[in-house]
Amino acid sequence: MRIDIITVLPGLLEGPFSHSILKRAEEKGLATVKVHDLRPYGIGKQHTLDDYAFGGGAGMVMMIEPIASCLEALKKERAYDEVIYMTPDGQTFDQPMANAFSLKENLILLCGHYKGVDERVRQHLITKEVSIGDFVLSGGELAAAVVADAVIRLIPGVLNDETSALTDSFQDGLLAPPVYTRPADYNGWKVPEVLLSGHAANIESWRFDESVRRTKERRPDLIGGPFSSEKGGNTTAQNDS
Ligand code: 6GU
Repeated sequence: MRIDIITVLPGLLEGPFSHSILKRAEEKGLATVKVHDLRPYGIGKQHTLDDYAFGGGAGMVMMIEPIASCLEALKKERAYDEVIYMTPDGQTFDQPMANAFSLKENLILLCGHYKGVDERVRQHLITKEVSIGDFVLSGGELAAAVVADAVIRLIPGVLNDETSALTDSFQDGLLAPPVYTRPADYNGWKVPEVLLSGHAANIESWRFDESVRRTKERRPDLIGGPFSSEKGGNTTAQNDS
């Protein structure tokens, strides 16, 4: 899989992709993330990227030409499954969307800045608009890093223990159960007995019950919700066995 990120602040994305899981995915050749500075595609000697809004009002608007040129250059190299505009008024990113994206080959993430992009970019050059939640960030870069992380870790072989993505919170519409490690007793704070029993079926059943309990308590909206069942995804529910 390849993800191309278009941004006016490439420096903001240097960190996330040179560490841990994302770095390992790149080293294993399972995912490539390329960050593209929009600046060279800007107009005139100054490589201008934004201009005042027609009709007035505060804030600059990203012009269509630099974005169109950059997209054109990328599309000449390969076909893209989606051209995604990162914007707080897009469709809210969630696990089913991450699962769907992880099955794609080539994605473009376009990061918005200032007051956003000229509406004609959205009408004609973009195939999807994605938000990471109901709050406003200064630009789409951190949101793009979030989406890339959530997607890349789902690619088979990226995680060491491949099954661990299957038991993530949300992957089956439930929150993940509690986990414990040594010591079994820390100052009298004990690990649940069943986890020390070695009885696989009982452990599985305890984990499922805890997942349900935790979900009812913290996220009752998820119970029987649109993504607690078959909607979307490249993975199967683990806890209904
Ligand atoms: Cl994708 N962009 C910006 N600027 N703010 C956001 C967002 C995206 N998602 C949530 N807030």
